[in-house]
Amino acid sequence: MKKLVCLGIESTAHTFGVGIIDSKGKVLANVRDSYTTKKGGIIPNEAAKHHKKIKDKILNDALNEAGLALNDINIISFSQGPGIAPCLLQGMRFAKELAKKLNIPLIPVNHCIAHLEIGKLLTKAKDPVLLYVSGANTQVISYASGKYRIFGETLDIGVGNFIDSFARYIGLGFPGGPRIAELAKKSNNFIELPYSVKGMDVAFSGLLTNLKQKYDKGNKIEELSFSLQEHAFAMLVEVSERAMAHLKKKELLLGGGVACNTRLQEMCKIMCKERDAKFFCPPNEFLTDNATMIAWLGILMFKAGQRCEIEKVDINPYERTDDVEVKWL
Ligand code: ATP
Ligand code: FE2
Repeated sequence: MKKLVCLGIESTAHTFGVGIIDSKGKVLANVRDSYTTKKGGIIPNEAAKHHKKIKDKILNDALNEAGLALNDINIISFSQGPGIAPCLLQGMRFAKELAKKLNIPLIPVNHCIAHLEIGKLLTKAKDPVLLYVSGANTQVISYASGKYRIFGETLDIGVGNFIDSFARYIGLGFPGGPRIAELAKKSNNFIELPYSVKGMDVAFSGLLTNLKQKYDKGNKIEELSFSLQEHAFAMLVEVSERAMAHLKKKELLLGGGVACNTRLQEMCKIMCKERDAKFFCPPNEFLTDNATMIAWLGILMFKAGQRCEIEKVDINPYERTDDVEVKWL
């Protein structure tokens, strides 16, 4: 098969991105811009307006980075879900417009699976358990009989939203993850907090309430940040390890923005070493939301024969990882 080039569009939440990759897995461009507010909470229509305003610039920047013209693109893919509807709509409209203009195939893809597949491509992990930890999502995912299945997940909020909420509460602004990580390095005073693992699932809202109470009572932000990370990440490592044991899998792959955290990476590495498994983590640029992962999943699905009628394609804000039939493995 001749070499194909796919242009992917990401717009599930804060980030609008355009990524370009070829069918050999060579990354040609990864350009994005994020909507931010001082307060941090996402206002869906405002984020969507941001995406609409920035889209042509991001597209041009991505083509420039790749050294390609629009006519060199063979496939268009976009994030179909899960995500925030008004944001998803902007990405889909743009993707349809481009696919029609160029008269090329359009492939809708699942955002969570894209995180997993780009990680596999870049780290060469073969059959990993993915610990996917972002703002909105916290899932332990792995392939089993035809689908990427969710073996564990958060029962309430995503770990990133949990960390960001606490950070906002103590006045650190958004995104809070990196700020909490810095503060945590300044303490090693372990304060006992709620530890909430239920079978293969985790929950963070009790931990969040407790942290806020301790902050109000005067505990130092450094020791709270340190203890927050130690508890939340231990919970995530525990459920990941349980999934690996259950599935008899020997690889752990990290994905999602919270995976940029070096303490989480370190804890995962220790767990993997202890059970003689391999640990994989792609560069930060491909952990946080990016469109190159959307382009790569577009390539995989196209090569597996996925086709669709542009007019029938729609967004799917609540699409789950295990809704998707995996035909490319
Ligand atoms: P998704 O749509 O997959 O849920 P998202 O919109 O939440 O993604 P991501 O870029 O995957 O976006 O993740 C953002 C989260 O990552 C934020 O909660 C942010 O605080 C967190 N984050 C970023 N860097 C770090 C870090 N160094 N340590 C901890 N958390 C981090
Ligand atoms: Fe994401």
